[in-house]
Amino acid sequence: MLLGIDVGTSGVKAVLIDLHGRVFASASESYPLHTPQPLWAEQNPEDWWHATCKVIRQILEQGDIAPTAVRGIGLSGQMHGSVFLDEHRRVIRPALLWCDQRTAEECAWITEQVGEQTILQMTLNPVLTGFQAGKIIWLRRHEPENYARVRHVLLPKDYIRFMLTGEFATEVSDASGTALFDVPQRQWAYAILDALALPHAWFPRVHESPEITGRVNAFASQETGLAEGTPVVGGAGDQAAGAVGSGVVEEGIASVAVGTSGVIFAHLTQPRVDPQYRTHTFCHAVPGAWHVMGVMLMAGGALRWYRDTFLPNESFEFVVSEAEAVPPGADGLLFLPYLSGERTPYADPNARGAFFGATLAHRRGHFTRAVLEGVGYGLRDSLEILRAMEVTPNQLRLTGGGARSPLWRQILADIFGQRVHTLQSEEGPAFGAAILAGVGTGVWQTVPEACAHTVRLTETTYLEPLHQEAYAVGYQRYRQLYPTLKPLFG
Ligand code: XUL
Repeated sequence: MLLGIDVGTSGVKAVLIDLHGRVFASASESYPLHTPQPLWAEQNPEDWWHATCKVIRQILEQGDIAPTAVRGIGLSGQMHGSVFLDEHRRVIRPALLWCDQRTAEECAWITEQVGEQTILQMTLNPVLTGFQAGKIIWLRRHEPENYARVRHVLLPKDYIRFMLTGEFATEVSDASGTALFDVPQRQWAYAILDALALPHAWFPRVHESPEITGRVNAFASQETGLAEGTPVVGGAGDQAAGAVGSGVVEEGIASVAVGTSGVIFAHLTQPRVDPQYRTHTFCHAVPGAWHVMGVMLMAGGALRWYRDTFLPNESFEFVVSEAEAVPPGADGLLFLPYLSGERTPYADPNARGAFFGATLAHRRGHFTRAVLEGVGYGLRDSLEILRAMEVTPNQLRLTGGGARSPLWRQILADIFGQRVHTLQSEEGPAFGAAILAGVGTGVWQTVPEACAHTVRLTETTYLEPLHQEAYAVGYQRYRQLYPTLKPLFG
């Protein structure tokens, strides 16, 4: 048995899989997200740990298995956040999360201080407000007494690793999202740490994702019920772990994850960047490989907002069914999905959502269809960036809640102009983390071999040639909406 743990934003999820990739048991537990001020997003690392102990206990009980049957553990988690520990290895203040937007000034300062060219060459990405670097500098500027106590800075899942094993360690995929990591060389960007006067010793040892980073210690064994000595592998940031769980571990395969956010993720054998840096290029969880991803902040989240606002108490199935009779292109009604700003293709926190082109002829189903299509167009923007980089995935694998809707699958295949596949496992990043644990503990030799044994495709949705014209027109109009409306966004 292999255990995967995903320390997410809304909660922690654990899955236990067997050596064929079958899910044996799974459990999840939520915790609060704190917003002490607008744009701030924080969580207590202790909440993650208590929830993790709870789900591990549940899963061991549910599976009714001996703790020694767990051969290895893989960790995954929300990326980019900052956990600050003092000399006694205690948490100093709540962690600042990936979705916290307070650091715009710090990011501009870092870029200036280090030099934009150095940042882009070493990290392959601009310094974004979500990334860890800005959060550390924010602490220095705004809470100097807390900053003075810092001895260790960790990413969220690496705090759980510390609690499980006592080790300060991370792995390349998550470290890539700090703005402090040399992505081509797969090590900390010491020149950047020095330019920012950040002590090297604060940052954990870096591993490749399947490597064993430590073993469950006596304390954690008591808290979780796991056997002392169980190996814990590096694991991966949630996007890279999700990609492993979807088998996106070789060139030519990409995933489209329609969860709250929408992410297009493709495997790279060499680090390659979009010349405009609209996508992220990070290390992959496959040793020696990289990945490129476009991140849309609201995908399924846009449909959820729409449902909660206009059709509360209705199921997603009902909401989506109203769009079925509406023709492709929603009779000219367009939706711009930037309900909480955007990352790809426009890194613009001020971008806003919009419906455009409404007439007396439009009914509620048109609005629903416009939402589904607007998300599709937004994802196509990322796909077009990949295609322009000559990363041309010949296989698209659809995951997340959005993949469950046959209508949405059809809309996406039609808008992408390419068939899409769905997968058997819906366990997401925790499943990928468990696969990485299998590679690290010798069940499989390589990540692609592990995926060949565990990841199964289910359905294929083919594009409908008769819909192509309407979507070509719709996409061209959609492309013009953001530049036209931009002067009106705050
Ligand atoms: C990836 C990203 C999210 C977070 C939260 O860049 O910001 O996937 O990891 O899930």
